[in-house]
Amino acid sequence: MAPEPARLRGRSEATAETPGLRGHGARASGASANSTAPPEPALANACAAPGAFAELLRRHRLVAGLSQRDLADRSGLSERAIRDLERGATARPRRHSVGAVAEVLGLRGAELAAFQATAFQPATRHDVAPGGDADARAEPIGRTDPAQPGDLTGREHDLRALVDLVSGGRHRLITLVGPAGVGKSRLAAELAAVLERPGALDRPGGLAVPHVDLSALRDPGLIGELVADALGFGGPSRLAPAERIAAQLRGRRAVVVLDCFERLVSGAAEVTALVRRCPGLTVIVTTRRPLHVAGVRLLRVEPLPVPLAMDLFARRAAAVRPDFRLTAANRDAVAAICEQVDGLPLAVELAAARMRLLTPGELAARLGRPLSVLTGGARDLPLRHRSLRTAIESSLEAVDAPARTLFAWLAAFAGGGLLADIEAVAVAFGRDSEWVHGALTELVDISLVRVTGEGGESRYTLPAAMAELAADRRTLTVREP
Ligand SMILES: Nc1ncnc2c1ncn2[C@@H]1O[C@H](COP(=O)(O)OP(=O)(O)O)[C@@H](O)[C@H]1O
Ligand SMILES: [Mg+2]
Repeated sequence: MAPEPARLRGRSEATAETPGLRGHGARASGASANSTAPPEPALANACAAPGAFAELLRRHRLVAGLSQRDLADRSGLSERAIRDLERGATARPRRHSVGAVAEVLGLRGAELAAFQATAFQPATRHDVAPGGDADARAEPIGRTDPAQPGDLTGREHDLRALVDLVSGGRHRLITLVGPAGVGKSRLAAELAAVLERPGALDRPGGLAVPHVDLSALRDPGLIGELVADALGFGGPSRLAPAERIAAQLRGRRAVVVLDCFERLVSGAAEVTALVRRCPGLTVIVTTRRPLHVAGVRLLRVEPLPVPLAMDLFARRAAAVRPDFRLTAANRDAVAAICEQVDGLPLAVELAAARMRLLTPGELAARLGRPLSVLTGGARDLPLRHRSLRTAIESSLEAVDAPARTLFAWLAAFAGGGLLADIEAVAVAFGRDSEWVHGALTELVDISLVRVTGEGGESRYTLPAAMAELAADRRTLTVREP
């Protein structure tokens, strides 16, 4: 584990991704960073997906400094109704309910119109088309049911290292970084389970470790409020969230998991500031992209080595086909499958689910196009994890447009490309070296592209699944003007 390099990357385009409640800052303790900007007209567009109304409502409520109960009391709805609206569990919110909460939240003019438009948008819950927003459709913010702990394959070393880091208290911002489906959330959930055991961190009752799912959040300015809320320090207050948390903790320890941070990396300074101002607070961040801020302890979550991946495969296969065993007859095929999917736990699970219909040998023979085969994950998984394609697409959505374009072009480099060759292609399309370097850095950061050294030169390669997606995308982008 190496400390993350101390560099800060300001990404100006981040503001375009944050359809936040800017006009609300004046009456919000938590959105101070954005408080002077005018109301954001992009709000309605940005929220045209199921789950978006849930997110919008929750953000308006947090910004107004109200708990779910407060909002329920003042609007005349039940607390359960508010909770369901914020979980995205209400397919068609009633006009009366939307009007009542909008009234309490003090929404007027464009904000009110955007709120209503989002609430009454016809729901189109389907799998994600290229360029679609898997995460925003999938879940509202703050979901508190991460992967259930237990039944963990490997990771003993990582888990021990994490527990030591948290116990030591010296590093209070810890990032778990790795590609989609590698097991970051799972590891964080296990860590939380360990810390919750009696005696952990010298606390007889253990420590409650809240889990905050940020996959749908686009405004980093709300992170502090969400953390305060998760720790039970939400509600109306004139204090900013960091001050509130610090005042409540008074030096006591608290640990919180911020899951799915990759879309918020441009707002990483919000988290460093929070940790700096709250001496007892430790934040575990899971993210596909490194944060690139000073003071972070980075733990890279690597895919499983093949023997462990085979173990996971066998257990998941037995769940769908109870007579499944690793035998001398199928062992080589299972090993081949695990190698083909690079030991990525999500892909291993999706492959094992195929044992309903196929033998390991039959599956191994079909894995030349992994995206077409590794589909059909369990329905209780987040949308972005139900197929390898949606998992990778949701990573692509977390990078900028140049990185997406370059990703498609890289399909032309079977076996990988050297920087000079990639630059030559980019120049042919009217882009310069700087453009290539920026885009390539993002793709490597988020593990969509692998970099290997070779005779003093770096080679950039797409793993098989990424290459399949890039080839699909190439057909799409080459047609772009
Ligand atoms: N070490 C592991 N042992 C067992 N299952 C795992 C392990 N790592 C990941 N998984 C499973 O693989 C899937 C993807 O893991 P997840 O933690 O959601 O990935 P990430 O957060 O990195 O995208 C989940 O179903 C998870 O339970
Ligand atoms: Mg995750």
